[in-house]
Amino acid sequence: MCGIVGIVGNRDVAQRLYDGLKRLEYRGYDSAGICTIDHGKLERRRAEGKLDNLARELAQDPLHGTTGIAHTRWATHGAPTVSNAHPHIVGPISLVHNGIIENFKPLRDELIAEGRKFESETDTEVVGHLIAREVEGGAAPQDAVAKVLPRLIGAFAIAILFRDHPDLIIGARMGAPLTVGYGEDENYLGSDALAVAPWTQKIAYLDEGDWAVIRRDRIEIFDRENRLVEREIVESGASSAPVEKGNYRHYMQKEIFEQPIVVAQTLQSYVRPFEGEVALPVGDLDLSSVNRVTIVACGTSFYAGLIAKYWIEHFARVPVDIDVASEFRYREPVLEAGGLALFISQSGETADTLAALRHARAEQQRIAVVVNVPTSSMAREADLLLPTHAGPEIGVASTKAFTCQLAVLAALAANLARAKGRLTPDDEAAIVGHLQEAPAAMNAALDHDDEIASMAHLVVPARDVLYLGRGPEYPMALEGALKLKEISYIHAEGYAAGEMKHGPIALIDDNVPVIVLAPSGPLFEKTVSNMQEVRARGGKIVLISDAKGIAEAGEGCMATIEMPQVHPLIAPLVYAVPVQLLAYHVAVLKGTDVDQPRNLAKSVTVE
Ligand code: AGP
Repeated sequence: MCGIVGIVGNRDVAQRLYDGLKRLEYRGYDSAGICTIDHGKLERRRAEGKLDNLARELAQDPLHGTTGIAHTRWATHGAPTVSNAHPHIVGPISLVHNGIIENFKPLRDELIAEGRKFESETDTEVVGHLIAREVEGGAAPQDAVAKVLPRLIGAFAIAILFRDHPDLIIGARMGAPLTVGYGEDENYLGSDALAVAPWTQKIAYLDEGDWAVIRRDRIEIFDRENRLVEREIVESGASSAPVEKGNYRHYMQKEIFEQPIVVAQTLQSYVRPFEGEVALPVGDLDLSSVNRVTIVACGTSFYAGLIAKYWIEHFARVPVDIDVASEFRYREPVLEAGGLALFISQSGETADTLAALRHARAEQQRIAVVVNVPTSSMAREADLLLPTHAGPEIGVASTKAFTCQLAVLAALAANLARAKGRLTPDDEAAIVGHLQEAPAAMNAALDHDDEIASMAHLVVPARDVLYLGRGPEYPMALEGALKLKEISYIHAEGYAAGEMKHGPIALIDDNVPVIVLAPSGPLFEKTVSNMQEVRARGGKIVLISDAKGIAEAGEGCMATIEMPQVHPLIAPLVYAVPVQLLAYHVAVLKGTDVDQPRNLAKSVTVE
């Protein structure tokens, strides 16, 4: 999603702003730009596409000035063209914006009626005109911003430069994250701590409705009532070193291969292997009183939640409702006061999920959050914070964050089951034992990388691909299809294997590869029957199973991928690996941008 960087500095800032954008590149974007104040003039360079294009612009025509703002844009209103790219300049001000101004239409109509001319199709430019109108009318920058902010409806973070005030940036936050950084004779602004990490570790997170007046020697923060407030200054801990790919060709590939380590790291916080116990940091949250769990998330995190529903209902016998976050609030869910609402997110900033969290809070739910970015908004708003320890995930397609979420969710299911009196100590020790086996089993799954790479060409020509699974492998089928869609741009769908005969089987012909996720076990025979129905109609099957399953049903498949024999509890963690690798190798053969696939953003901070 859009990234913002700002510096009120004591030396030229353009190169450092560019470096800051580089650190935010992982968020996904489709154009970029920088604006500085140079001898009383606002100067900017903008470019479509990747940051390299902006670098070329800067090389041809360098920018000077000690104060500036920079932006990577993920298009919402208006195509990713140079004229829609930020920063926008409107008279004496320039601004960048992340998020959406929902009431931009009436505001734009009002401004056009006054004769103001727009140069872009963005909602952002409306904010520019509103502030410029105040400044042109003689208002001081602070007064102009204080007057305009209450008129904006939506979720946004903005940063504004004022041509006639070379020592000033004003930033504001409502629904999208923004951080201020405290330096030596310089101060900073960034979408996250990573943006400013090489320059300072001393940061403060703005609260909802806050706006900050940033000068070289001081930062003042105001709340939505325009009262001067103090926000805690913390050590960000964000690394200033860029996350490296090492010997890997892509971040996604590296992150797939990191999974055994980061899952083991994550489990360390949630299980005590010697005692055979799960140990969640529940604090004073009484899990025995939880009679219903409401899970809300988006995308891959939602699929982790679907798997958790199987586990929580199986082990704890507590009913689970689950929603995609964008639907949750609007379907007016019935939530009994005191229920447990569980939010799952890699970034902790996904706008839909964050809004759902706040809705649940207003409905008197206790809020548990499984999140990978410990400083994120969701982490800060949780009653029960359950961090995943996946480390920074750079590839837009989520891999290691997903399997770490599963590790936490399995431990949560077991902890809840114990609290509800549904687990004997032996059962609990057995669960802990199975979870401890996951990293090694994932390693064994990774050993099939070459084999998966060499069969990927079978999927490359397909226009459509189906993924089938039963039980917790059904959400894995959904996740497999999502991974393939995201990075290879091949249309793919996941189905519960038993649902095929109710419609989707009509799609089957000999051009449609069908990927079947079927560990041997209680549901295996039924899945094999569904597989036969596909095969009878000419479908080409890739069977992902263990040795026993492949011996029983592998014959006649287009390909088989052998997984280690594992306990059903950890099968989703293990079977995640081959579906990720398959998507990865298909995308590599197709030559797509694996780490930053078209149209996608890493963290989606608009509704
Ligand atoms: C996963 O590969 C996706 N890029 C996407 O579906 C993602 O999982 C979703 O946007 C939710 O993000 P979050 O986990 O950061 O909330």
